[in-house]
Amino acid sequence: MTTILRIDASARPGPAHAAGEQASFSRTLADAVQQGLTAHHGQLVATMRDLATDPLPAIADATIKGFYTPAEAMDDRLRAATALSDTLIAELEAADILVISTPMYNFAVPAALKAWIDQIMRINRTFAYENGEFSGLLKRKRAYVAYSYGAGGYGDGGPLHSYDFMRPYLTMILNFIGIEDVTSFTVEATTADPATVDAAMVAAIEGIERHFAGTGDL
Ligand SMILES: Cc1cc2nc3c(=O)[nH]c(=O)nc-3n(C[C@H](O)[C@H](O)[C@H](O)COP(=O)(O)O)c2cc1C
Repeated sequence: MTTILRIDASARPGPAHAAGEQASFSRTLADAVQQGLTAHHGQLVATMRDLATDPLPAIADATIKGFYTPAEAMDDRLRAATALSDTLIAELEAADILVISTPMYNFAVPAALKAWIDQIMRINRTFAYENGEFSGLLKRKRAYVAYSYGAGGYGDGGPLHSYDFMRPYLTMILNFIGIEDVTSFTVEATTADPATVDAAMVAAIEGIERHFAGTGDL
C-alpha cells in the first residue's frame, strides 16, 4: 500500500468545498495529481493537512529550544512545545509520496506553508549537520508539487522568472531534507480573463494526466 501525505496551502477551498465559487487552482491541480497517483498505484492511504482550515502555529522560543535539546534532557515544557513538530515529522516519515499544493503569495510560499516548513525542518530529525556538511535524513521518498501563479511569465526565460521565490525555495527545502525526486506542475496567469484561465487549467491538467499515463516508475 502506498501512503501519501497531502499538504494544501491555499487560503481558498478546493473543488469539493468551493460551493459554487471558483475553486482553488492549486488544490484542483493537486486533486489531479492524487487521481493520477491512485490510477497508477491502486488504493492509496492519504493523510491530509489542510493548512487553511487547520493552520499551524508559528514556532515559539520553547519549540526552538526543544529542537536543539538532546532527548534525555527534554522536560515536559519542551516536549509539549515540540509535540506538533513530532506529529508533522511522523506524517512525513510515514509517507512514500508527498503531494503539496500552493499558490504564490507575494512572490513566495504562503505563510501557512512556511509555518509547516518551520515545524518540520529539524536538526537530527529531517536533516543533519556533520563535519561542516548538511545532509537530508528523509530517504526513498518523492514529491509532487502543484503551483499556481496569478501572473504569467515565471517560467525559464520569462520576464518574472527572477521574482519566483516560491518554486526554487520549496524545491530546495525538499532536496535539503533528502527528497530529491521532485516533480512540479504549474498553472500561471490565473488572474487573466476567464477564457485564458480555463485554457491554462485544461493544459495544466492534461499535462498531469499525461505524466501519470506513463507506465514507468512514478
Ligand atoms: C495574498 C495574495 C498574494 C498574491 N501574490 C501574488 C504574487 O506575488 N504573484 C502572483 O503572480 N500572484 C499572486 N497572487 C495570485 C495568486 O497566486 C493566484 O491567484 C493563485 O492562482 C491562487 O491560487 P489558488 O487558486 O490555489 O488559491 C496573490 C494572491 C493573494 C491572495
